[in-house]
Amino acid sequence: MARRRQVYEGKAKILFEGPEPGTLVQYFKDDATAFNNQKKGTITGKGVLNNRISEYLMTRLNEIGVPTHFIRRLNMREQLVREVEIVPLEVVVRNVAAGSLATRLGIQEGTRLPRSIIEYYYKNDQLGDPMVSEEHITCFGWASTQDLDDMVSLALRVNDFLTGLFLGVGITLVDFKLEFGRLWENEDMRIVLADEISPDNCRLWDLKTGEKMDKDRFRKDLGKVEEGYQEVARRLGILPEAGVRDMKGPETVQ
Ligand code: TMP
Repeated sequence: MARRRQVYEGKAKILFEGPEPGTLVQYFKDDATAFNNQKKGTITGKGVLNNRISEYLMTRLNEIGVPTHFIRRLNMREQLVREVEIVPLEVVVRNVAAGSLATRLGIQEGTRLPRSIIEYYYKNDQLGDPMVSEEHITCFGWASTQDLDDMVSLALRVNDFLTGLFLGVGITLVDFKLEFGRLWENEDMRIVLADEISPDNCRLWDLKTGEKMDKDRFRKDLGKVEEGYQEVARRLGILPEAGVRDMKGPETVQ
C-alpha cells in the first residue's frame, strides 16, 4: 500500500490523509465483521463493490441536493471524501421489520411498518453501540437539537429517494444505517452524510422472492455473500467492468 499517513482504521475501511487539506482517502477493505466484532470474515471483492455502490448512491443523493462528504472515486478501492467531524451516532431508518427490531419487539420479520421509523445508536464498540434516545443525545452533547433535526430530515429524504431507486431495480429497501458528519466552512457548520451506503449497512431484499442481497448473508451464514453484493451492483448498472475478482491493490493517490 502506498506510503500515506493513516488517520483511522475501522472494521471495513481505512482513512488516509488526502491530497489536499480537508480531504481524506477512504479505502474499502474486504473484511467483514458482525455482532460487534464477534464474527469476523472476508468477503472477496466486497471492498471494490462497496466503493462503487457507495459512489453511485452518494452521487445520486448529491444530485437531489443531499449534502455528502463524497468528492470522487479514485480507483477500485478508494474514494476521495471531505474530512468531517463524525457525529458519534448510527442513524437507522426502517421500513420493514427485520434484524434487531424484529428480535427486540417480537415482530415477524418482513412485516411492513405503518410508517418509517428512525432509531439512534451511540457509536461505541466497547458498549456494543447501545440504542439511545434524543434525550441521551442532547444530554451528553453528542449532537444538538438542531443537528438532530437536520439528520432526521436528511435521513427521511435519503429513505424516500433510495426506496424509489431500489424499487426501480426490483429491490426492497428494508432498513439502513447512516452516519453524519459536521463540515466546517469558515464559521459555518453543515451536517452532511458521511461514511458509506452499501450492502454492508443496508438490508436489501429481492422484491419478488425476498432473497437477501446484503450483509445478512454473512451474518446468518446464508452463503453466496459476494454474489449478493454483486447482484445489487449489477441491478444498479455499475458492476465493475474488470469484475470483482480484479484484486489489484489501490493505485497511488497523489
Ligand atoms: P439492526 O436490525 O441489526 O439493528 O440493523 C439495522 C440496520 O443497520 C441494518 O440495515 C444493518 C445496519 N447496521 C450497521 O450498518 N451497522 C451496525 O453495527 C448494525 C448493528 C446495523
